[in-house]
Amino acid sequence: MKTPAESLTVMTELVHPNDTNILGNLHGGRLLYWMDICSAIAATKHTHASVVTASVDNVSFQNPIRLSDLVTIHSKVVRTFKTSMEVYIEVFAESMPDLVKIKTHEAFYTFVALDRNRKPKEVEPITAQTESEKILFEGALRRRQLRLILSGRMKVDDATELKALFVKE
Ligand SMILES: CC(C)(COP(=O)(O)OP(=O)(O)OC[C@H]1O[C@@H](n2cnc3c(N)ncnc32)[C@H](O)[C@@H]1OP(=O)(O)O)[C@@H](O)C(=O)NCCC(=O)NCCS
Repeated sequence: MKTPAESLTVMTELVHPNDTNILGNLHGGRLLYWMDICSAIAATKHTHASVVTASVDNVSFQNPIRLSDLVTIHSKVVRTFKTSMEVYIEVFAESMPDLVKIKTHEAFYTFVALDRNRKPKEVEPITAQTESEKILFEGALRRRQLRLILSGRMKVDDATELKALFVKE
């Protein structure tokens, strides 16, 4: 059985002028792209297969990242389902010259593993090791049901973890 640590991927980027908007802040789309790459690598480490992004949970841009900041992205697989897996991503920014590290974002991406015919293939289960990984593992089923409802792939009645939020008794 694999662990989240085995898929841990850390990627650092320097924010160049080309990465910023007219206010000198990192483009949201550029950050989402880096997050996608970093989390796809984590999913690939877990599956040893080709993976595609199936969904991206909502990402809030509360803290701007600025020109010349260092951006470090951590990602790891926190739960697997049948052919899909949830990857947890944390983003940290460090400003020159002090390089004080501040956590700016977190997000969940879902990836699906594909076989040689580009059809979804089963992924190996994962065992959470640390306390924080266990909390992420527990919450993953709830988040999965929410994203499947929002994408029209699950009926509210089948969302065992979420029913109370949607259906009034
Ligand atoms: C993701 C994709 C492979 C799913 O294919 P599909 O034929 O619908 O396959 P299935 O219905 O068997 O679903 C496969 C898995 O994807 C999951 N999935 C599909 N859409 C999802 C969504 N919006 N959110 C979360 N999971 C999703 C399913 O729950 C299933 O997971 P499970 O096997 O762990 O239960 C397919 O929709 C695809 O190729 N999408 C494009 C991916 C892509 O190009 N991404 C880059 C962005 S353009």
